Amino acid sequence: MIEKIKELIEEVEQFKIDTKENAEQLRLKFLSKKGIIAEIFSEFKKVEPAQKKEYGQRINSLKQKVEEKLALAQEALEEKFQKQNDIDITLPGPNFGLGSHHPITMVTNEIISIFSKLGFTVAEGQEIEDDYHNFSALNFPPEHPARDMQDTFFIETNPDILLRTHTSGGQVRVMEKQKPPIRVLVPGRVFRNEAISARSHCIFHQIEGLYIDKKVSFADLKQTLMYFAKEFYGEKTEIRLRPSYFPFTEPSAEMDVSCSICGGKGCTICKNTGWLEVLGCGMVHPNVLKNCGIDPEEYSGFAFGMGIERTAMLRYGVTDIRMFFENDMKFLSRFKY
Ligand code: PHE
Repeated sequence: MIEKIKELIEEVEQFKIDTKENAEQLRLKFLSKKGIIAEIFSEFKKVEPAQKKEYGQRINSLKQKVEEKLALAQEALEEKFQKQNDIDITLPGPNFGLGSHHPITMVTNEIISIFSKLGFTVAEGQEIEDDYHNFSALNFPPEHPARDMQDTFFIETNPDILLRTHTSGGQVRVMEKQKPPIRVLVPGRVFRNEAISARSHCIFHQIEGLYIDKKVSFADLKQTLMYFAKEFYGEKTEIRLRPSYFPFTEPSAEMDVSCSICGGKGCTICKNTGWLEVLGCGMVHPNVLKNCGIDPEEYSGFAFGMGIERTAMLRYGVTDIRMFFENDMKFLSRFKY
């Protein structure tokens, strides 16, 4: 008998309780009226008087074991229940760290949204161009020295194919397909064979605009660009146009805006001039219109183009153009909003 009680104690010790049902099973098996302990007690009278004391002690310790085990299990189960109820399922989930737009994309989108209020739409153009669309149609005759203004990457096996040096070829493609009135922006990546430094890169982005209709004048060009400058650089911005040269526009100009950093007083960014050069522009050359099947007697138009990296550098105070191409997370996360 004593052996049997020992075995029962061991059984109790090894019994695993992880649910309320489990605990109840153990209680019923040992402590209920028809349970094991009641049964063993009922045999008490049959035990030899000499063994009664030990027998009694053993039964008591078995009973204690069961009660202890149940008490401990009760506590553990309550704690578990508490913990489950501590979870607030209405809290927002973990943050997976969303990315952000690249500063070049942000500036491009901002420029597009300003001009779209004037009715400009967007055309893509193509990065791999032919000589005709990048140069000849834009009034760069073969051997013309103006071609050297833009150091070009040619495809070695076919010098007629090149990486576009500006997005103006995209405007030629629009004029070939579409009848005036035309109001289009061509944003995109362009390539020039230039040494890479803090100020220039062999890959950069441009956005160019083209407006063609009847009786478009230089005054329209100036008014459009002034509207853009005030929207983009601030209400107080002033503009000035300096004569310049591009083969595809006549007359041509460079536009400066009053320095948005010092307000025109002079600082290191504007090299103490109070002005920042931001874009090239002009009236579309009659030869370009003719090349694209548009009658220059009936229609006229203006075009403008700006470098997006340079614009973004001014906007965000970036001093090294290479930062836009490095994919440096520290740099890019500055533009999260
Ligand atoms: N295509 C010129 C450039 O890349 C910019 C420009 C566009 C100038 C349109 C005038 C008119 O430098």
